[in-house]
Amino acid sequence: MLFRKIQIIDIEAIFEIQEELKFQTWSLSQLESSIKSGLGFLIEKESVLAYAFLMPIQDEAELLSIAVKKDYQKQGIASLLWKKTLEYLENLKIQKVYLEVRASNKIAQSFYKKNGFLEIYERKNYYSNQENAIVMQFKF
Ligand SMILES: CC(C)(COP(=O)(O)OP(=O)(O)OC[C@H]1O[C@@H](n2cnc3c(N)ncnc32)[C@H](O)[C@@H]1OP(=O)(O)O)[C@@H](O)C(=O)NCCC(=O)NCCS
Repeated sequence: MLFRKIQIIDIEAIFEIQEELKFQTWSLSQLESSIKSGLGFLIEKESVLAYAFLMPIQDEAELLSIAVKKDYQKQGIASLLWKKTLEYLENLKIQKVYLEVRASNKIAQSFYKKNGFLEIYERKNYYSNQENAIVMQFKF
């Protein structure tokens, strides 16, 4: 499996994973601007299996999304992607990573906890359907 930065040519593969999982609705142009303005990483094996987008801000970063193709979930691929991403962030001297996750997304919360994130607070009615967001933090 190969870990590398996301490039513009990967947009369609990422868009397809997003469509398959139906958890996020970034358009092709939003994906393109996330690649240009932030940091994106992927895991591939012949095709793209998993990706993560982050936005670094000084010595912190926000994890905007992480996802694994349906048929490849529960095989440690997101954990591998996160481990490699951490190595990259460490070189950038990032100290903390934050994220927001839907209160109903228990699988993602379990994934984040397993990978060293702690829940720090809950934002009420954060999402457009009034769902709360759980804010989590990872400290190096
Ligand atoms: C969350 C997600 C990225 C995890 O990817 P993954 O490659 O399946 O995760 P891993 O195999 O590395 O699992 C690591 C841990 O996550 C948790 N986890 C993963 N899948 C789980 C499931 N179906 N049920 C419960 N816990 C789960 C477990 O704690 C697991 O540790 P374990 O294997 O020792 O039980 C994946 O489920 C996904 O793409 N979900 C849809 C997109 C999403 O919700 N992204 C997060 C919000 S942006």
